[in-house]
Amino acid sequence: MRLLFKNIGVLAGVVPEGVLRKEGAAMDDAGLLDDAWLLAEDGLIAGFGRAGGALPEADQVVDCQGGMLMPTFCDSHTHIVYAGSREAEFLDKINGLSYEQIAARGGGILNSADLLARTSEDDLFAQAMERVHEICSQGTGAIEIKSGYGLSPEGELKMLRVIDRIKRSTPALVHSTFLGAHAVGRGYTHAEYVNAVCEMMPAAAQYADFVDVFCEKGFFSVEDTERVVMAGVRCGLRPKIHANQLSVSGGVQAGVRLGALSVDHLEQTGPEEIEALRGSATMPTMLPGSSFFLRLPYGRGRDFIDAGLGIALASDYNPGSSPSGDMRFVMALGCIRMRLTPERAFNAATLNGAYAMGVSDVTGSITVGKRADLLLTRPGWTLLKMAYLHQTPYLRQVWLAGREYGTNN
Ligand code: NIG
Ligand code: FE
Repeated sequence: MRLLFKNIGVLAGVVPEGVLRKEGAAMDDAGLLDDAWLLAEDGLIAGFGRAGGALPEADQVVDCQGGMLMPTFCDSHTHIVYAGSREAEFLDKINGLSYEQIAARGGGILNSADLLARTSEDDLFAQAMERVHEICSQGTGAIEIKSGYGLSPEGELKMLRVIDRIKRSTPALVHSTFLGAHAVGRGYTHAEYVNAVCEMMPAAAQYADFVDVFCEKGFFSVEDTERVVMAGVRCGLRPKIHANQLSVSGGVQAGVRLGALSVDHLEQTGPEEIEALRGSATMPTMLPGSSFFLRLPYGRGRDFIDAGLGIALASDYNPGSSPSGDMRFVMALGCIRMRLTPERAFNAATLNGAYAMGVSDVTGSITVGKRADLLLTRPGWTLLKMAYLHQTPYLRQVWLAGREYGTNN
């Protein structure tokens, strides 16, 4: 099946084959091609070019009417498998309690764990699939999903099985992460729970692609992180670490030492973290949606890029700190609150997001041979307008692996 896109106003995200991430000055280049066409064949990008000559033959033609065609977003950090809602805690936050205070009272992540324990696997799957559909409709084509609301061997495996079922139920590309070390499960001492998480590893590794730890004061120390990650690495899991969200935790340095694919959050970082990341394979990933929702400082993405590093942006979609998976809003927050240029925010939300979840060889850019994961805007839209008019409807249609995805537009 050959699908031709013609009359593309701007094709964004053109990247040569073999480029798996962008760093420093390369992040200023959004890979733009004006007046273009693109051909997808059997779900993959088969070719593209500037309009002018004869267009390739196709079975189906989409007239883009001057809209922008870009790769779909790659959301490399989500917790979208959760039960129920934590809207009562939202009220507590409005009335002055902090994220840490809510957690210390036994709310927060433990509240989600209690709700999850009372929810059947089928119901959990149905609730999560609604969110998967929500974010795919908003233009996300690759999603990393974490466990971490089970906090017991049964609960964590229940979550990982649900993520596995999601992988098989959506055309989006899904990778899963075992985040047993998200908070200490009820009924365990801290030390007992760290041991339990290490013991869960072989079973978790049957489903998970990555291992993650919430390396944070009041949650898990650098030593805990090293133990859990090493247990994961022995089972073939690559680390991704929650680091420096609420305090300088040492998690960035630990992540780099442990060969993490990404270190995520980074609201609390300085020159030491930038130096630790320099020359590493670890993608610093920032989550402005959670800074927005928790009224916390934003990651210093601009400083990271000016220092020559790449960054990824992800939604952190979860019930406690970021109840939104809208990557266009994440991009806009990157521009508005982190002073990223639209080109930098775009690269961070597409190719670098794909790198941070280990899929940038197959999606995240307009490159021949990659999946045809494509987002078409209404006529006349640009990356700058997407961030500036950040609430104005702009999206016309999404294709995942070359298939039209229902967006209700
Ligand atoms: O990334 N920081 C830890 N985990 C999530 C929040 C999870 C929750 O509050 O439910 C985060 O922000
Ligand atoms: Fe998170």
